[in-house]
Amino acid sequence: MFDKSVYTQRRNLLKKEISSGIALFLTNPEASFNYPANTYHYRQDSHFSYFFGINLPGFAGCIDFDSGEEVIFGTDFDIDDIIWMGEQPKVSELAAQAGISQSRAYSGLHDWLRVAVSTGRKIHFLPPYRGKVMIELSDLLSLPVSNIKTAASVELIKAVVKLKEVKDELEIAEIEKAVDVAWLMHTTAMKMARPGITEQAIAGTIEGIALSHGGAVSFPVILSMDGQTLHNHSHHNTLCPDRMLVVDAGAELHSLYSSDITRTIPVGGKFNPRQRDIYEIVLKANTESIAAIRPGKEYRENHFLAARIIAEGLKTIGLMKGDVDEAVAAGAHTLFFPHGLGHMMGMDVHDLESLGENYVGYDDVTKRATEFGTAYLRLGKKLKPGYVLTNEPGIYFIPALIDKFRSEGKYLDFVNYDKVETFKDFGGIRIEDDVLVTADGHRVLGKPIPKTVADVEKTAEG
Ligand code: GLY
Repeated sequence: MFDKSVYTQRRNLLKKEISSGIALFLTNPEASFNYPANTYHYRQDSHFSYFFGINLPGFAGCIDFDSGEEVIFGTDFDIDDIIWMGEQPKVSELAAQAGISQSRAYSGLHDWLRVAVSTGRKIHFLPPYRGKVMIELSDLLSLPVSNIKTAASVELIKAVVKLKEVKDELEIAEIEKAVDVAWLMHTTAMKMARPGITEQAIAGTIEGIALSHGGAVSFPVILSMDGQTLHNHSHHNTLCPDRMLVVDAGAELHSLYSSDITRTIPVGGKFNPRQRDIYEIVLKANTESIAAIRPGKEYRENHFLAARIIAEGLKTIGLMKGDVDEAVAAGAHTLFFPHGLGHMMGMDVHDLESLGENYVGYDDVTKRATEFGTAYLRLGKKLKPGYVLTNEPGIYFIPALIDKFRSEGKYLDFVNYDKVETFKDFGGIRIEDDVLVTADGHRVLGKPIPKTVADVEKTAEG
């Protein structure tokens, strides 16, 4: 946990955003994987952690916006728990570590809330994403489970987004530490990516690095020579020459702050000419759309800058044709770059996404597009200092998408399908960094992870 003043300040800022009612934050429960007592690695809810810091299940944090009162509800461990788990702090001690002087038994939460509801007070809660939490909220608030998601407080969602989307020095330092763990994960993968080794061996090794430095990986490792599948969690291939290995992986620290980095490595450590051609285009899209990050600018503009660089580069090597601006306006680049440039980062690797992507990435001014490809852009709105976001352009050759667009006669003025056919065995390339928006520009976070052709080749050499 951070110092209690951190949590007190965060709650005080939240109190400034909402004038009445009670905010109810529940912890995540344990989740079983094959029988009740065999549980997954415990992961606290990020919003509860942000305001209260306690990293245990079975607690509720309440903030009364009218009176200013703050209460932690929990259950003191008994001797049976202590026999299995060792000495544990009392609820009152954990509350004090979060800067809260009032603690009560969790068994009293239902009645405490019922009194509030019976006097017409609003209970603000965030949209739950776990079934057990939905059921708990349903029991506590006497609402049907099917109504729980829609009953979530939009006022609280907007207030939490406003506070959490801007990261302070403490948070930025944590994210940088998580990127430094990712440096070790990715440079290790570069050294291991030799013909004959299995993807599983590399995935397991880098997941172990994350575990040995903190919580776990920040999302299931994406690592495959079949990088044309954007989120490929299957690691069944044995590496072979002339293929590229996409590695999209990050670490989560005990503080729950995370990293999200992608590098693409030529198997054997040396790029062949075709790989180098595509790689240099993606690298240019990454570095130039990062260079253009600054406050006040919509991230959607950076997305289209990357799209233009990709279209221009593909035209240079004969895969696209025609006017580049017209091609991008028509959406022809989405055949090769069918996803968004990036998303917010923080405690959650897609930060705040549990509250609804459009609350996080869009606002009243910047509305989400509906067209194929651009609709997947998770962050489009104007940037502010303190935002931490990912920048992750890519070029992919997805045989099914190539066949679909070609058979539909799409983008015939902009795509050289005959040449594209010859790349159906290529896979994909993505390059991703975590970037802080600063007062006058941006800063790529963490120890630089090799990404130029020369640096990747040198790292892979050993
Ligand atoms: N890098 C994985 C993700 O964005 O979900």
